[in-house]
Amino acid sequence: MRLDRLLAQATGLSRKQAGIEIRKQRVTLDGEVVRDPGLRVPPDAAVRWRDEPVALAGPVYLMLNKPTGLVCARRDPIHATVLDLLPPDLAARVHIVGRLDRDTTGLLLLTDDGDWSHAVTSPRRGCAKAYVAELAEPLVAEAEACFAEGIVLRGEKRPTRPARLERLDDRRARVILHEGRYHQVRRMFAALGNRVLRLHRESVGGVVLDPELAPGRWRALSNEEIARLADCRARAEGEV
Ligand code: URA
Repeated sequence: MRLDRLLAQATGLSRKQAGIEIRKQRVTLDGEVVRDPGLRVPPDAAVRWRDEPVALAGPVYLMLNKPTGLVCARRDPIHATVLDLLPPDLAARVHIVGRLDRDTTGLLLLTDDGDWSHAVTSPRRGCAKAYVAELAEPLVAEAEACFAEGIVLRGEKRPTRPARLERLDDRRARVILHEGRYHQVRRMFAALGNRVLRLHRESVGGVVLDPELAPGRWRALSNEEIARLADCRARAEGEV
C-alpha cells in the first residue's frame, strides 16, 4: 500500500494531510525518515508518525464524529451511512460498535475486533455512555430522581437501569446510561412528557470524543483508549 494512503487510513488524516506530514519528514519507515508519499510500504514494515507506531496490520479501532442525517448500517436504500465516511477498504472491514439514531451526533466506535466490541456493548458490563440532550420543554423538577430510579418505557415492562441526569440548564441535560435500548434517551424524556430536539454522544466508557474531530471525521483510537474501553466495566460501576 502507498505510504500516504496507509497513514491516512490508520490516523484519520486526509490523503493530502498525510502527504504533507510525510514531506515534513514526520514519518519513518523501519527507523529511516521518508519523504515520498507514494512510497510502497511492505506489509511487515514498521511505520511511525510523530514517533507513534502506525499500523493497519492488526485489528482496527476507530472513533468517528457522527454527523446528523447518516444512518448506522452497513447499507441503506435511502440514506447515506456512516461507513460512507471511510475509505471503501476500511469500511468493508469494520463494524459499528453501538449504533446511534440518524439524527444523533457524536462519538461512534468502529472496529473489526468482535471480542472487543462485545466487551464494549455487553449489557452485563454496563459500559457508561454520556449524551447531551437539548429538549423542547423545560426539565421537570423530578427528572433526576426519575432517571436514577428507572423509567418504564412505553411498550416495555422492565424499568430502565439507574441512570444519571445532570441538569445543564432549563432545557439541556447530560444523561449517563449503562445500557442501550432502542431510542433510549429519546424515550426516557418522552416518558417525562418532553421531547429531545438534539442528541449528542460525548463519551463511551470514559473515552471522550476528540474535540479536534470535525463532524464526519474519524481517527484511530490510541492504545490507551482501546484498553480503557475493553475494561470499561470497573469505571462504569463507580459512575452512577
Ligand atoms: N438514545 C437515543 O434515543 N438515541 C441514540 O442515538 C442513542 C441513545
